[in-house]
Amino acid sequence: MASFLARSLLGCLALVMILAVGGLPSPGSAMGLPQPQPSLNFTIGVEGVVWCNGCRYRGYVESRDASPLRNASVLLRCRHGRRALSVWNTTNAHGYFLIQTGMQAAPFTSNNCKVYVPRSPARGCRVAVSPARKKGSPLKFRRFVTLTDGLQARYSAGRFTFATQDRSKC
Ligand SMILES: *[C@@H]1O[C@H](CO)[C@@H](O)[C@H](O)[C@H]1NC(C)=O
Ligand SMILES: *[C@@H]1O[C@H](CO)[C@@H](O)[C@H](O)[C@H]1NC(C)=O
Ligand SMILES: *[C@@H]1O[C@H](CO)[C@@H](O)[C@H](O)[C@H]1NC(C)=O
Repeated sequence: MASFLARSLLGCLALVMILAVGGLPSPGSAMGLPQPQPSLNFTIGVEGVVWCNGCRYRGYVESRDASPLRNASVLLRCRHGRRALSVWNTTNAHGYFLIQTGMQAAPFTSNNCKVYVPRSPARGCRVAVSPARKKGSPLKFRRFVTLTDGLQARYSAGRFTFATQDRSKC
């Protein structure tokens, strides 16, 4: 749905740009000129944050009783028919990750994709709270970002939360 909206929106933007650049051409002046193709051509970027509930690691936020988890491996996985795409990245010191695809994402819509944090990087904080173990998070469209190599549809995968079973083992 989000991707469909994104593509529709992009189509509209492309149309607006054609109108803005070319004006409304009279039939005569348009003859013989190549028509600009609206390009539905963008890469995917997806961001999110990984947290640990209940442990006081670096960056601990008292009001949430949670700490960001750094160096967590995060996977963007897309499937459509027999095609599949996997792109990994890791979280930074704020628990934040950004996974960016190249044009290899072109055959997929955001509905074909999910984001997974298969395991926690912290031994003492291993229980997957949300999403539940092995369940991925869907992509929610946020905005378009202009990069040097073209347009990127930027999505959020939201928050991934692990918890400790025993605070003494944090
Ligand atoms: C999409 O953009 C890339 C890089 O800008 C280009 O190489 C590629 O041919 C484009 N694909 C389509 C279908 O327009
Ligand atoms: C990050 O995690 C990987 C394993 O997933 C480990 O090999 C590496 O040493 C870790 N790096 C840091 C800075 O903790
Ligand atoms: C990994 O994350 C870094 C920092 O956010 C980002 O610059 C880089 O493009 C990401 N790599 C991939 C493959 O997503």
